[in-house]
Order: sequence, then C-alpha cells, then structure tokens
Amino acid sequence: ESTPLVLGIETSCDETGVGIVHGTELLVDAVASSVEEHARFGGVVPEVASRAHLEAMVPTIERACREAGVALADLDGIAVTSGPGLAGALMVGVASAKALSLALGVPLYGVNHLASHVAVDIVEHGPLPEPTMALLVSGGHSSLLLVPDVTHDIRSLGASIDDAAGEAFDKVARVLGLPFPGGPHIDRAAQVGQITIDFPRGLTSGRDMERHRFDFSFSGLKTAVSRWVEQQQRDGRDLPVADVAASFQEAVVDVLTRKAVLACTEHDVAALQVGGGVAANSRLRAMAQERCEAAGIALRVPRPGLCTDNGAMVASLGAQMMLKARPVSALDLPADSSMPV
Ligand code: KG4
Ligand code: ZN
Repeated sequence: ESTPLVLGIETSCDETGVGIVHGTELLVDAVASSVEEHARFGGVVPEVASRAHLEAMVPTIERACREAGVALADLDGIAVTSGPGLAGALMVGVASAKALSLALGVPLYGVNHLASHVAVDIVEHGPLPEPTMALLVSGGHSSLLLVPDVTHDIRSLGASIDDAAGEAFDKVARVLGLPFPGGPHIDRAAQVGQITIDFPRGLTSGRDMERHRFDFSFSGLKTAVSRWVEQQQRDGRDLPVADVAASFQEAVVDVLTRKAVLACTEHDVAALQVGGGVAANSRLRAMAQERCEAAGIALRVPRPGLCTDNGAMVASLGAQMMLKARPVSALDLPADSSMPV
C-alpha cells in the first residue's frame, strides 16, 4: 500500500486543527477554535491561544481518529505547521507532532503554513496544475505566490506592505461597531448595502504600482474608512453601515483580484488558487470567478471551511511530501514564528 495515511496538526494561530488525509483524499478535518475567548479582546491573545491549544490538542486528535475510523497505529506520517505564526502556539503543535512521530515510529514533516493553505486545494479539487498562482489572504497574510511545486518551490511575487487583508476587514468592522472577527460580519452587511463610496485602491497606479506591482497596502483604505465614518458622526448623520461595508469590501476585492489576474497573465499561469480566511468572502469569490473567466484562467477556491486555518491543509501537504519523497524533519524541528515561504 503506497498511499500514505497522514495526520496533520495546525496551531499557528487560534484554531487547533487536526486533519487526516489518505493520499489526496480527505478523511476528516477536526477543528477546535478559541476565537470566542479572544473576541472580548478584539484580537487574538497569544498566551490565551497557547493555553487553548494545549487543552484542545489531545481531545481533537482523538476526535479526528474516531471520526475517520483510524487508529494512531495505522498512520504513516505526521505533519505539523512549524511556521510562520505565534511562537507559543506553534510550539504546542510541534511538540505534539514530535511526540506522536517518536511514539509511532513514523516520519515527521514540518511544513510551512502558507504552503499548506495552497496544498489543501489538492484534497478539494485534485492535483495542482504546475505552476499554479496562489492568492493567500487571511488575518495574518496577503500574498501572491507563484507555485511551481507546492512541496518545495514557492516564490513570493508580492505581499501586503502593511495590514493583511483580513486584518483590514477586522479593523474596519470595529470602526463600524461589528463584532470580531469582522470579515464575516462585513460580508453579511455588504450583501444588503450599495457601493456608494469610492474608497482608495492602494498601490494600483503610477509609481506605487511600478514599485509594488504585486504588493498590497490596506492601511490607507482603513484610514479612509475611519475618516469617512468620523465625518458622518461630526455631521450628525446616521452611519450607513451596510453601504460602508459594501464600498470597503469592493475596494479590497477589486485590488486583490486585479493583481492576482495580472500575476497570472504576466507569468503565463493558467490556474489561480485563492485561500486563507478571506477567501470565504462571497464578493471575492464572485469577482475572482468573473475576472478569471474573462481572462481564461481556471479558478480554484476550496470550500470556506478549508480556507480558514485547519489541520487538513497540513495533512494534505504532508501527504504530498511523502508521495514526492521529500526529506523528513528531525526531532529537533524548531517552531519558526517568522518562517519565510
Ligand atoms: O485564515 P484565517 O482563519 O486565519 C489566519 O491565518 O489569519 O483567517 C482569518 C481572517 C479574519 O481576519 C477574518 O475576518 C477573515 O479571515 N474572514 C473574512 C471572511 N471570513 C473570515 N474576511 C472577509 N469575508 C469573510 N467572509
Ligand atoms: Zn492561515
């Protein structure tokens, strides 16, 4: 039997994810989130996240095995996110994966979080075209990645020079009085709003575009929304939350999809994969579909549950590494909070 059965562990932020993959087939994706514990702080608190991972780890592994009908002894390999992410949170996953690998006598694969956001699409839509372009947009990252081979060759074409896209959604949601994490709330509000305000599209024209062709900037947009909201308040007008949400969302999604499609055409890449929490955004999915279709690019977006952080993405990349006989990690594998892609 050459199809590897791999368990993947993800603890880079606030989700304790455990997934099990058989080759390119997803068996289970178990996630325990501490997001509610962070909500009252308006952001993820690292210390709270680490402790929650520690509490959730063993029960989540047990649940994943039970739901997949897999015994630990059946596993052929263990994969774990070794970076980038919150140092203390990563350490919980890495230590757990080492213990499993050692106890079961199976290889350990430390994987990059960004790479696994791309690799998850394999269990959803089958093998990745090589090369694939990946637009990765989450609370921590906004990157355009050229992916000749997801197991060992990923090139960053650009990234956010300030806030990540999800961070911008969360900050603007706060300005609009919506709960954390704000992305889904803005998405929902925008569905009943009109695009009435022309907010700035950062790094899309002139010298900015020349110097930052595939980079993003969202802090100017966030400031523009704050100023607009303050002006409304000074004028004593009611805040049209849905319209501001729709206008803000349109600006973000316009820039993301425009640059992603440009990257594909300029690098002669025929497939675009969109991942990360913001890929759950309904307007992003619709505009990406429209613009990819117009440009003859095949769009691949995993279901929303696989776009946010999860263990299946780690297991999927681990299985690819086993299938391609990539080097295993040693038991002194470090957690690297600032690991480059
Ligand atoms: O990938 P993810 O779960 O965690 C990180 O690695 O950051 O992404 C979380 C981010 C949050 O900023 C959240 O507001 C955003 O994804 N998000 C959304 C939507 N769902 C989640 N942003 C816009 N629209 C959504 N529907
Ligand atoms: Zn992520």
